[in-house]
Amino acid sequence: MTRIPTPPGAGPPEATPPAAGPQVRHYLDANASEPLRPEARAALDAALAAPGNPASVHADGRAARRRLEDARETTAAAFGASPANVVFTSGATEANALALHALAPGRQVVLGATEHDSVLAAVPGARRLPVDRDGVADLDALAALLADGPMLVALMAANNETGTLQPIAAAAALCRRFGAWLHVDAVQAAGREKIDLAALGAHSLALSGHKLGGPMGAGALLLGPEAPAPRPLIPGGGQERGWRAGTPPLAAIAGFAAAVRAAARADAGEPDRLAGLRATIEQAAIGAGAVVCGAGAARLANTTCLALPGVRADAQVIALDLAGIAVSAGAACSSGKVAASHVLAAMGLGPLASQAIRVSLPWNATAADAAAFAAAYPAIAARLRGALAPAEMAPAA
Ligand SMILES: Cc1ncc(COP(=O)(O)O)c(C=O)c1O
Repeated sequence: MTRIPTPPGAGPPEATPPAAGPQVRHYLDANASEPLRPEARAALDAALAAPGNPASVHADGRAARRRLEDARETTAAAFGASPANVVFTSGATEANALALHALAPGRQVVLGATEHDSVLAAVPGARRLPVDRDGVADLDALAALLADGPMLVALMAANNETGTLQPIAAAAALCRRFGAWLHVDAVQAAGREKIDLAALGAHSLALSGHKLGGPMGAGALLLGPEAPAPRPLIPGGGQERGWRAGTPPLAAIAGFAAAVRAAARADAGEPDRLAGLRATIEQAAIGAGAVVCGAGAARLANTTCLALPGVRADAQVIALDLAGIAVSAGAACSSGKVAASHVLAAMGLGPLASQAIRVSLPWNATAADAAAFAAAYPAIAARLRGALAPAEMAPAA
């Protein structure tokens, strides 16, 4: 819960409502960005306070280098890679683009149909791996595609809109059987589920700092031992062992590593706690006529995708925002515009693809946050559905 003071001077004096006190906000949009963890803030502040470029040879540069290599070791250890194969990037969009750029030469590319746009846009025209109605990738279809020649496959560990978990270990085993490489976008699963590159048998992994409680501006591409020679998207000074030139954003990287450590230390009961809060939210939503998308699949404990038949997603987001609750409409693009979700469309959900909101609980979500949603949603749903013509109320196929 966050208290945000009412902005002063909004409107003429006579229009100012009687003092209502600060609005209590409930931030339920963790999959867009997790709140900064205190450990990450402390590491960020400490790194910002010290001068030095990790490439400089003097004592300050060497201290900066030590900070960078500590972060690399932390990240490698947490996600089952060798420190030498951790490439820090600006975030996961860059990590996904770098992986597909570096691993694709000589291979055909297959992308999961529900991948994030940063993956889909990196290889336009690539073949798509279909998913079922819960968003789970069809591994029989994958086996059939893999028989066609050397492949690079990208399959996300957990979907950002529905939380659906993919069978990554099984997909990796299949890829290895056919000599294919598997890139895993682990952005939403990292810090929430056990993700280990070596144990999964994948070839590369993309991570984003701000999705696990670090600051925006740092992410990583982790490569397996079969990694090819560097093929940077950004050539230049040879930083990151030739994989990514440019002075690394050291403070953001230190904050990212601190968030990785903090997430790893989190109570083992945390997923159950979040699943309990999510159950409160889903119960209220289902009671008000919503459909849970992907409910039949194993999902991230913090995520639910709720479709309200006949009601546009952006109307739901705005109504909840006015009630002090922050959620997303599927994947909002940078312009803030809401398009029909390609994820829900790939799941065969038809018109529901533009009628679903994503509720994603942050690491610091409380019972009060879930209760606030459960209290606000039924009246909002009734009001928005009441504004529809009867024909529009029919549940979508
Ligand atoms: C699954 C997934 N992959 C990649 C990204 C891109 O991450 P970043 O914001 O670090 O570029 C996101 C962000 O929403 C995401 O949810």
